[in-house]
Amino acid sequence: MARTKTAYVCTECGGTSSKWQGQCPNCGVWNTLVETIAATPSSRFQALAGAPSAVRTLASVETRDNARTPTGIEEFDRVLGGGLVSGGVVLLGGDPGIGKSTLLLQAMAALGGSGKLGRALYVTGEESVEQVALRAQRLGLVNATVELLAEVQLQAIVGAIRTLQPGVVVIDSIQTVYTEALESAPGSVAQVRECAAQLTRLAKQNAITIILVGHVTKEGAIAGPRVLEHIVDTVLYFEGDTHSSFRLVRAIKNRFGAANELGVFAMTERGLKGVANPSALFLSQHAEAVAGSCVLATIEGSRPLLVEVQALVDPVQGGLARRLAVGLDPQRLALLLAVLHRHGGVETGLFDVFVNAVGGVRIGEPAADLAVLMAIYSSFKNKPLGAKSLVFGEVGLAGEIRPVQRGQERLREAAKLGFTRAVIPAANKPRQAIDGIAIVAVERIDQALQQLTG
Ligand code: TYD
Ligand code: MG
Repeated sequence: MARTKTAYVCTECGGTSSKWQGQCPNCGVWNTLVETIAATPSSRFQALAGAPSAVRTLASVETRDNARTPTGIEEFDRVLGGGLVSGGVVLLGGDPGIGKSTLLLQAMAALGGSGKLGRALYVTGEESVEQVALRAQRLGLVNATVELLAEVQLQAIVGAIRTLQPGVVVIDSIQTVYTEALESAPGSVAQVRECAAQLTRLAKQNAITIILVGHVTKEGAIAGPRVLEHIVDTVLYFEGDTHSSFRLVRAIKNRFGAANELGVFAMTERGLKGVANPSALFLSQHAEAVAGSCVLATIEGSRPLLVEVQALVDPVQGGLARRLAVGLDPQRLALLLAVLHRHGGVETGLFDVFVNAVGGVRIGEPAADLAVLMAIYSSFKNKPLGAKSLVFGEVGLAGEIRPVQRGQERLREAAKLGFTRAVIPAANKPRQAIDGIAIVAVERIDQALQQLTG
């Protein structure tokens, strides 16, 4: 096979270099050059552009509605924004063993059986077809009309797709696929990027839906520094605690729908089952109120979710004070401790501070601030907040409690689950009382902290 010319591209600035160097000659960042095929614009982009492009007005462009095909697995469709789109490329990332192959096999079986998207092809590079069949048996999907292909070479996979003409293809996983045009090993950034780019082009040209499975590297990024996220249309991420049976699938990016939607599953004997009403899933069951625990009403995508935030504040045992945040933003924790010091007069410099969102859920929204702060103070004072209380609100650097969006929805969900007291930003106070919930409206953090001292 003719050797293709390679070049080295910086993953930070996109600058190129003809030979590998430790430091990018363009932007000066270290260790960012990766090997890629030195493609001429004609070979690389022609396929996407089609006929020579002419300048057109926006209004003259004919559009087709991106019709979505539901897979039939409701929670998966929810994160996809309604279903799969023809020509759309989805990246599904997550830790090993979390359930990526299981979910996709279930989805493909459902789709293949319905025939809604044409034939369904499952390309496995990690397991043999027997292993996949065994899993299907376990899932009770033996009669499923899914075509299987055990292959890792890109050209062979592309060939099979062209011959079979499926409507939907799963590549499990993109890290095992390699192209002979590149010398680097399968799974390297260059290989993953090139293979994903070629598969994406194939998907767009032939209106095939392709789902790429991606392993998460130790740093948590999919296949190196975000190399795939900008190539694909939709990025989904499995998260959650592998020790519990719950699995969350989060949409990080979605060109066809709302990002940050969350699908909730339970891993059972017979595969992943959707959890339709997950709002109480992330509450741990305390018989009575305990210190260092605070229930947060958060919004995940379109749904309110109640999550227990726990904190432990403990004197430093020699050495430096440690700060650890699990499922919450560590930078935000540092900021909140500074606010607590300056505006609440609580000095935590001689204490280790650990915070955790129960159940392996990851919370990104600033509405968690007040809950984290109250959990920390509750642990510090060793005083519980009181049973059936919930909290939400953003904390500002000046010690003010800022309103958050969709406060009413959060309160209503909490009322439904039997909560009786809510500590919330004054600006979120509903005009009409919500049945069963007493509102404690706070404007500054000292008012919030009073709930634990008064
Ligand atoms: P898998 O889908 O193979 O994970 P991934 O592809 O993300 O690496 O999931 C494997 C785990 O799921 C494994 O620990 C066993 C568990 N499992 C069940 O609990 N029930 C099932 O029905 C199946 C198929 C797997
Ligand atoms: Mg797998």
